[in-house]
Amino acid sequence: MLEKISSAVSFIQQQYSKKPQVGIVLGSGLSSFTKEITIEKEISYGDIPHFPVSTVEGHSGKLIFGQLGGKTVVCMAGRFHYYEGYDTAAVVFPIRVMKYLGIETLLISNAAGGTHKEWKVGDLMIIKDHISFYTPNPLVGKNINEFGPRFPDMSEPYKKYLIDKAKAIAAEKGINLHEGVYFGVTGPTFETRAEYELIFRLGGDAVGMSTVQEVIAAVHMGLPVFAMSVITDIGIRDEENTITHDEVLQAAKEAEPKFAAIFKEMVTRL
Ligand code: HPA
Repeated sequence: MLEKISSAVSFIQQQYSKKPQVGIVLGSGLSSFTKEITIEKEISYGDIPHFPVSTVEGHSGKLIFGQLGGKTVVCMAGRFHYYEGYDTAAVVFPIRVMKYLGIETLLISNAAGGTHKEWKVGDLMIIKDHISFYTPNPLVGKNINEFGPRFPDMSEPYKKYLIDKAKAIAAEKGINLHEGVYFGVTGPTFETRAEYELIFRLGGDAVGMSTVQEVIAAVHMGLPVFAMSVITDIGIRDEENTITHDEVLQAAKEAEPKFAAIFKEMVTRL
C-alpha cells in the first residue's frame, strides 16, 4: 500500500510540483465547483498509477490542482464508491494520496437523502458526526502504522473549529444550514420507506453512500476533516418518496451556488 501511494504521489509531483494545502472532495452533481478554482493542472484518474477509475455518471474522474482563496488546493472531481465494486482500500486511496501530497485539511461534500419532513431538497447540512452500520471499515486488515494507530479515536471526526467556521460564514452570507448526523450505507439501492424510518429513529439526519470511509482514513492519518451534505431528496415514510439518480444530480446542481460560497470561503479562512 505504501509503495502504491508513493508511486502515485511521485507521478503526480512530476506533473505538478506545488504542495497542495487543502484537499477537496466533490460529491455527485457538485463538479461545477471546479470553476471557482484557478486551474493549474488536471490529471485524469486513469493516468495515475494505482488510482481506481470512477464509473458513475456525474463523476468526471480527475484530480484538479490550482489556486482557490489564496491557497493551493487539490480537488477530486469524482470519487470512488464501495457500491461500484471497489474494495475499501481503493475507496480511500485518493485520500491517502492527498495526505502524502501534503494537504493539511480535507473538505468533503456529498449528496444525501434527508430524513426530516420539514427539510427541503437543496438544503445544506454540516456533518457533525456519522453512523456507519453498513459500510465496511477501511482500516480492517493489518494496520499500516505509517498511516496511524490500530484503534483511532473517533470522538471528533469532524473538527469543531471547522464546523464553527462554516457556521460563521453561513450566518454572514445569510445561508441557512442544518447540522446533523450522516448515516453511511453501501447503496446502490436508495432506502426503502422502512429503512428511511429506521435511519431517522437511529439518529441519522441524512443518509448517503460515500464519505464515511474517506473520513475514517483521514482521521486515521490525523487529517482535520470538514464535511457537508447537499440534501437532494427527502426520505420519509408517510409520503411519496420515489427517487432517481437524475433527480439527485439535478438537486445538487441547483444547490451548488450556496455550497460553493461556503466551501470557497472556508478555504480562504483556513
Ligand atoms: N439515500 C442514499 N444515498 C443518497 C440519497 C439517499 O436518499 N440521496 C443521495 N444519495
